[in-house]
Amino acid sequence: MNYRHGFHAGNFADLAKHAALLVLLRSLRDGHKPLRVVDTHAGAGAYDLSDADFARSKEAEAGIKHLLSHNVPDSLKPLADYVRAKNASAGFHNRVGLYPGSPVLTLDHLRAGDDYIGCELRNDDYALLRRRIEPRGEAIQADGYAIAAQVAEDSGEHDLLYLIDPPFELPGDYAAIVTTLTDVLDLRPDARALVWLPVKDLETFDSFLRHMERDLPGADIVAAEIRLRPLWNPMKMNGCALVAVNGPDGFAATLEAIARDVVAVFGEAGGEGRVRRL
Ligand SMILES: C[S@@+](CC[C@H](N)C(=O)[O-])C[C@H]1O[C@@H](n2cnc3c(N)ncnc32)[C@H](O)[C@@H]1O
Repeated sequence: MNYRHGFHAGNFADLAKHAALLVLLRSLRDGHKPLRVVDTHAGAGAYDLSDADFARSKEAEAGIKHLLSHNVPDSLKPLADYVRAKNASAGFHNRVGLYPGSPVLTLDHLRAGDDYIGCELRNDDYALLRRRIEPRGEAIQADGYAIAAQVAEDSGEHDLLYLIDPPFELPGDYAAIVTTLTDVLDLRPDARALVWLPVKDLETFDSFLRHMERDLPGADIVAAEIRLRPLWNPMKMNGCALVAVNGPDGFAATLEAIARDVVAVFGEAGGEGRVRRL
C-alpha cells in the first residue's frame, strides 16, 4: 500500500467530504438510539500540516489554507469554523497547523453514548490513529470492508452510519464498496452511508452508480458529482464524488450546495457540481 493520506489531508476533496460528514453528524444528533459510526478507511485521525514531507504536496495549501484565507461560502462555513476552532484550541492562532481527519471530526460531533470504530491497515497510520482517538474511539487494524457486516450484525441497539473512503489504489475498491453495502443493508436496511470517490472519467463513475442502483434496490441513493474541470484527461483527478445512502431529510440539498460551492472555490472553467437521486 503506497497511499498515505497525509499528502492529501485538507485538499479540496477532503473539504467536500468533511463538510458533508459534519452536516450529516449534526443532523443525526436528534436520533433516539445511540449512533455507531464505522469509518472503514480511517487514516491517521488528524494531520500535522507542518510535516515537511507531507507539505511538499502543497495540497493543504491549495485546499484548507486557501479556503480559510478567503470568503468562505455558506455550505463550507460549518467545516471552516470547526477547523479554525480546532486549530485555536491546539495553539495555532494565526495559521492552520493541523487538519482533523474523519476520525477526530466524527468524535468531536458525537453525543455521550454514541461510538466510533475506525479501521486502518497501515502500521504507521494505525499507530497514529490509536494515539489520536483512544480512548474516545476504537481503532482497529483490520480491513474495513471485511468487518463492516459483522459490526452491523452486532449493533442492534444502535443507529448505524458508515463512512467508506478508500484510497482507490486498486480497481477492486468500486466492487468492494457495492458488496460491502449490500451485505450491510441486507442485515440493516436502515443503515446510512457516505461514500467518497475520485472522478477521473465518467465511465468508471457511471458504472459504479449502475451497480449501486442494481444491487441496493431498497435504498435511497443520492450522488453528488464535483467536477473541477471538464473530464478531457482521464489520467487526472478531475474532481470527486460523494454518494449518500439513506441520508436524512434535506441531505440532497446539502450535497448540492457543497458541490456547487467547492466548484466555485476550487474549480476551473468548465467545472460543475451536480446532484442526482438514483
Ligand atoms: C483516503 S484515506 C482515509 C481518510 C480518512 N477517512 C479521512 O477522511 O480523514 C484511506 C485510508 O485507508 C487505508 N486503507 C486502505 N485499504 C484499507 C482497508 N481495506 N481497510 C482499512 N483501511 C484501509 C489507507 O492506508 C488510508 O490511510
